[in-house]
Amino acid sequence: MKIWGQAAVVTGAASGIGRAVALLFAKKGARVIVVDLNLPGAQETVAEIKAQGGTATAVMTDVTKQEDIAALFDTAIQTYGTVDILVNNAGIMDNMAAAGDVTDEMWERVLAVNTTSVMRTTRQVLPVFLAQGSGVIVNIASIGGLHGSIAGAAYTASKHAVIGFTKNTAFHYARDGIRCNAIAPGQVMETNITTTMTNLNERGAIICGIGMALSPRAGQPEEIAAAALFLASEDSRFVNGHVLVVDGGWTAYM
Ligand SMILES: NC(=O)c1ccc[n+]([C@@H]2O[C@H](COP(=O)([O-])OP(=O)(O)OC[C@H]3O[C@@H](n4cnc5c(N)ncnc54)[C@H](O)[C@@H]3O)[C@@H](O)[C@H]2O)c1
Repeated sequence: MKIWGQAAVVTGAASGIGRAVALLFAKKGARVIVVDLNLPGAQETVAEIKAQGGTATAVMTDVTKQEDIAALFDTAIQTYGTVDILVNNAGIMDNMAAAGDVTDEMWERVLAVNTTSVMRTTRQVLPVFLAQGSGVIVNIASIGGLHGSIAGAAYTASKHAVIGFTKNTAFHYARDGIRCNAIAPGQVMETNITTTMTNLNERGAIICGIGMALSPRAGQPEEIAAAALFLASEDSRFVNGHVLVVDGGWTAYM
């Protein structure tokens, strides 16, 4: 799967799935912009990439801020000349709260990080992709973007919106050499996302727990990264507007 020499921007790459994507892309010869709010974590990812002989640069970005996103793509273009691949991976959980318990603060935060950021990075990169007649976007959604009770109301709504945005972007730019797909991971271990859950909602946690029992096993970040590599590479050139479920068969039950 060839992405050799391509310039890839990966958000939320200081840990978990984003770090695994950055490491794999770099291993396959991509030049990676490692983006995160957590600069020390992003720098660790870059150090790991360099230790394996790859090329990467860390950029501190809060994906909820338009000015940070504009600066991020300026840096990417100054550093590698262009952007060929964008992976929108930065994300946070909610507290599993159902609609009746959602606070405005939680709703706005989750939608800002998980959804609005995806629109803004896409909007920012599209002129670059249109000018070069090519570009690939991979959005890390969730099976929570396809089903009703994997997480709380805010997270579920945020990831459903990412999937709708993915399909809309895919079709609107399909004739311009641009592709946009999403991955819907199931439960993935060895990431830091549970640290974004504070004050877990008891009712929501019990209800989500019912479905968790159906998961055959949890996945590893590398198993999501492998799917991202396929969607970013030429091997998937006829795949556009697709949501690739990578969940070990969990939602095959539903
Ligand atoms: N872990 C799972 O079980 C799972 C399942 C389905 C989907 N996902 C999705 O995968 C993606 C990655 O999650 P993960 O499990 O690897 O979590 P993680 O917490 O390990 O990684 C997320 C990264 O995003 C960064 N981030 C958060 N807010 C940010 C902001 N405002 N600006 C820039 N960076 C920010 C964090 O610092 C962190 O490094 C998320 O979109 C998540 O919703 C995860």
